[in-house]
Amino acid sequence: SAAEKGGWSSFMAKEVSEEPEAVANTIRGRFSDGAVTIPELDGLDELFLGIDRVIVVACGTAAYAGMVGKYALEQWTRVPVDVELAHEFRYRDPVIGPNTLVVSISQSGETMDTLMAVKYAREQGAKTLSICNTQGATIPRESDAIVYTHAGPEVAVASTKAFVAQITALYLLALHVGRVRGVLSAEDSAEAVSELEAIPAKIARVIETEQEHIEQFAGWMADTASVLFLGRHVGYPIALEGALKLKEISYIHAEGFAAGELKHGPIALIEPGQAVFVIVPSPRGAAELQKKVVSNIQEIRARGARVIAVAEEGDVSVLPFADEVLRIPLAAPLFEPLLAVVPLHIFAMGLATAKGLDVDQPRNLAKSVTVE
Ligand code: G6P
Repeated sequence: SAAEKGGWSSFMAKEVSEEPEAVANTIRGRFSDGAVTIPELDGLDELFLGIDRVIVVACGTAAYAGMVGKYALEQWTRVPVDVELAHEFRYRDPVIGPNTLVVSISQSGETMDTLMAVKYAREQGAKTLSICNTQGATIPRESDAIVYTHAGPEVAVASTKAFVAQITALYLLALHVGRVRGVLSAEDSAEAVSELEAIPAKIARVIETEQEHIEQFAGWMADTASVLFLGRHVGYPIALEGALKLKEISYIHAEGFAAGELKHGPIALIEPGQAVFVIVPSPRGAAELQKKVVSNIQEIRARGARVIAVAEEGDVSVLPFADEVLRIPLAAPLFEPLLAVVPLHIFAMGLATAKGLDVDQPRNLAKSVTVE
């Protein structure tokens, strides 16, 4: 009903506007004195000390959150991490055992493919930890440990605020496990904590400064047949998420690519007018990667692509080659995905709205897929 939407035109619009709170509420009560303390994980140190491998299982947007989380988990815990679609994991006889931690991610906690993967992992003797947005749902009940995301109820079929909350929860988990295993220093942990604490206000700034601009050019693009998304490192899963959101709610063909893969195939798709979003790494925090991505932008621009760059405030190197620049505030490289995804969510919503589509209830999709 209109009242439930709280004055917003759609649940999706409301939920995108709640992305800052989704992060803030997920970190609330889990920091003290610059250290991560997750009350739900009390007493599990032995479990975290005993693992030699992490496998993240999820579907859809949650799987992309997992891909982002892999970078933080490996950096802060030095435990090898694989990310797998739950339905692929379950049916390939994976090599797992008592020292494997299977981390499931699910907004609803009811996705059948993810649930079956968790049950299978348990049967094989693996440890299981659920990152979930729904108290008491089936997947957390089937898991050895739970870290809830506190994004609040998500109603729109396409997941938005749950995505940023899932990344936040994975980062908290990574910081916790890194400290427990003694591989992450108190100083590095405190620095990451303060980066994370600054994220909600930065997301709010992206919404404030870019929403109107994005909705306007999304409107101009209503007739676009296809949109590509390029990203590198933590920007790669964000490119995949940007493409998924566009497919889901605007029914436009969209694909995300690792920017480094461009010359191995996708560049053949570039013809004059092709719209390409490019997630540009920070020129301060990731200078080497930033240069490579800017050279990708030059390559596609030379072939007539219409480039929409998502770039850090103050990064002028993209200006000569981009048709549109969407600005995100400065953040350490690992934290940029939490900012870079926001313009992509707004864009998908803006384009679907311009096409007159129902952004909350896209055709053929369900909020929670409870069948295999
Ligand atoms: C469905 C939804 C997606 C969601 C996916 C996983 O496909 O349409 O938005 O990302 O399920 O859902 P979950 O509840 O497990 O996060």
